[in-house]
Amino acid sequence: MDEANLMEKIVSLCKRRGFVFPGSEIYGGLAGTYDYGPLGVALRDNLKDLWWRRFVTTRDDMVGLDSSIIMPEAVWAASGHLEGFADPMVECEKCKRRFRADHLDGATECPECGGTLGTPKMFNLLFPVDMGSTSGASRGYLRGEIAQGMFVNFKNVIDVTHLKLPFGIAQSGKAFRNEIAPRDFLFRVREFDLMEFEYFIREDEWKTSFEYWRKEMWEWIEETGIRKESVHELEVPSTDRAHYSKRTIDFEFDYPFGRKELYGLAYRTDYDLTRHAERSKKDLSYLDETTGKRFIPHVIEPTFGLGRTVLAVLCSAYDEDELGGEKRAILRLNPNVAPIKAMVSPLLKNKPELVEKAREVRASLRKVHPAIAWDDNGNIGKRYRRQDEVGTPFCVTVDFDTLGEHKELKDTVTLRDRDTGKQERLTVHQVVDRIRAAIA
Ligand code: GAP
Repeated sequence: MDEANLMEKIVSLCKRRGFVFPGSEIYGGLAGTYDYGPLGVALRDNLKDLWWRRFVTTRDDMVGLDSSIIMPEAVWAASGHLEGFADPMVECEKCKRRFRADHLDGATECPECGGTLGTPKMFNLLFPVDMGSTSGASRGYLRGEIAQGMFVNFKNVIDVTHLKLPFGIAQSGKAFRNEIAPRDFLFRVREFDLMEFEYFIREDEWKTSFEYWRKEMWEWIEETGIRKESVHELEVPSTDRAHYSKRTIDFEFDYPFGRKELYGLAYRTDYDLTRHAERSKKDLSYLDETTGKRFIPHVIEPTFGLGRTVLAVLCSAYDEDELGGEKRAILRLNPNVAPIKAMVSPLLKNKPELVEKAREVRASLRKVHPAIAWDDNGNIGKRYRRQDEVGTPFCVTVDFDTLGEHKELKDTVTLRDRDTGKQERLTVHQVVDRIRAAIA
């Protein structure tokens, strides 16, 4: 496939087919925000559900949490984000545009207008929120990372679950960062979804646990359909690590705009729990019932940006080829994450007996998965192309043979495979089994 303009093609497909729209578009858009459309919500939520199933519901050592988005200043003071969660910013003296100083390779001129750039200043990424209607409103912040929800609820969770180390607390939800220069579509935005867990361990287990989660992250990458060859580990040097981390590996992806961070794996030591215990004056220690000793657990944190996952999945799946002498754009999505699992159509929409039978077939397939689309518009070839472009793995066509025009073919349908374009004559039962196996 011709990789030129790949990003433009993906952004345009996302808009045209309802995956992702610019945020607040009718008012000219709001920088650093995007809205997920009907197919985008389905793709994003399939990925989120897959993640939750893999890392939470199918494990005995992990529990879920959904903590508040607004958290008080005290949390961010304790976590170190009020001081340390900042990027270097420079402003152009002429056009007043702002840039990340560390993205400019030491340039002294504005990349937009050629004006002189001012002196770099550190710019805090947390979004402040003033709460309450009376004067002296209290200051909170939209969470800059979801991790703090797990730390401030550590005691609540161990009190109600009686979990034994090692164990994890997981959540997925929105995070907010006042990025100086949001860019590259879903890659760097100001409001985004994160999926992550804090895995609590004894200090001497950190290296083993780190290696274990590193492998698990690769398995997750495989399950999503992200092209593995395009993912690379980067050992983050101590000078670039977050203030809380003793070791970090970034999983970088080859996006069309360059190799950049997809996920992170960090050893956060006992930094967060210790700081919250000191500042809140609450006992956040763990009691080892066999030794009778109390201590603050250490933490391994695998973190997964959901928007960046959607983007990496789309970049991995997007393809163009020629089928039957016609060019087509196709999303080769894994069936388990595809927004639509199959499309059913009657060969002709003006034949009530075909429509009725096709509706019956659709109802049978919907027992396997609800995301079974219906399309009776235009010719069959066009219907197939529309589904290829949004990654639907199967198309099912009901024709006169399904009704028994040739007796031996009664109750069979045509199953068309997205990737090969190959068509097979199968019974409805066989199609049900095929779809069930593909999305398992
Ligand atoms: N709790 C750890 C943490 O938040 P991070 O590396 O700052 O670590 C986690 O962010 C993940 O969030 C990143 O690996 C990336 O996938 C995603 N991410 C970070 N900033 C983002 C942004 N501005 N837009 C979209 N995703 C972002």
